[in-house]
Amino acid sequence: MPGREKAIPHVSGDKEFSNTYQYWKDPESLKKAIKDGLMSHEMNFKDFRWMEKSLEGEMVLEEGLEYFNQKNADGKSCASCHGEDGAELKDVYATFPKYNERVKRVLTGPSQIEVCAKERLQRDDWGPDTRPNSLLAFYVASLADGAVINVDTTSEPMAASYNRGRDLFFKRVGQFHYACSSCHTPPTAGSYLRGQRPTTFFGDAAQYPIYHFPYQLAGDDYSYVFTMQHQIRSCQQLSRMYQGKEGSASMTDIEVFIRASANGYPMSVPVAEYNMNTDYLEREYNQ
Ligand code: HEC
Ligand code: HEC
Repeated sequence: MPGREKAIPHVSGDKEFSNTYQYWKDPESLKKAIKDGLMSHEMNFKDFRWMEKSLEGEMVLEEGLEYFNQKNADGKSCASCHGEDGAELKDVYATFPKYNERVKRVLTGPSQIEVCAKERLQRDDWGPDTRPNSLLAFYVASLADGAVINVDTTSEPMAASYNRGRDLFFKRVGQFHYACSSCHTPPTAGSYLRGQRPTTFFGDAAQYPIYHFPYQLAGDDYSYVFTMQHQIRSCQQLSRMYQGKEGSASMTDIEVFIRASANGYPMSVPVAEYNMNTDYLEREYNQ
């Protein structure tokens, strides 16, 4: 698929794709675009979710906090090292994924949590695509609410990962011969697709992990929380691609690409993917 070379690791890169960045670059711009009567797909659907916190999401965060404080057989928990309720992990999620010198690989939020759980708490079953991992990632991400995303793609391993992720994103694969970019760049992004509106990949990471009620992948029991890789897998399933394993090198590369494409944008967690409540559009922003 064409367009790959235009992608840059910053949210303003969207100017070269949908040129809708002006509508959603900050809350004021969004409010203005809504007031001017732009339809959500015309503004690339970078919409209201990001501004409106999810109450249900808040409640699920409590479950993440319970895992955070859950003691292992030695009486240790995440909180033993990272402070009460994770006080010392404030804002760090906005810098993930990052290269870890010690384990010699790029770690996403969920894979850092896996490393800590396994090495430091002897919990071998808290890896990506499990309930504790997803809820912990959601909780730790919420500690970075409002922090500006800043994934450093300048180091050699991170630059290489970003480039591989970008290649994968623009590569046609699977039964339908789609690339991620088939849907997530114009003209498909910016129009309706069976009632859904796929967006360009810029800025999307700002709301992940996300509360995804009422949809979940078969077999899940993660209180409807979707991490970024869970969302990627859901798209792979939808578009009949081979589904990557969460935490694998290739899925990590795609996540690096998408998260870095949100650089410069503030995180907003917890929000809901399907926010059924549209009252606030009338109430607050449409006057
Ligand atoms: C025994 C101490 C210890 C425990 C327990 C522990 N961690 Fe860590 N954690 C660390 C250290 C040390 C690092 C530095 C990175 C590394 O070496 O993995 C770290 C790094 C992190 C980071 C990234 C911080 C940054 O600034 O980049 C996150 C997020 C994190 N841990 C989450 C958790 C979670 C969630 C748990 C519980 C499942 C947990 N940790 C349990 C010691 C611990
Ligand atoms: C057949 C079209 C299609 C393909 C191909 C596709 N997606 Fe999606 N994607 C969607 C739709 C539709 C949504 C949901 C948009 C909505 O309603 O908010 C979505 C949502 C997403 C989101 C969340 C966006 C947000 O605002 O919450 C991410 C991230 C994403 N896709 C990444 C990918 C990746 C990575 C691939 C390739 C592995 C991919 N998608 C392939 C259609 C597609």
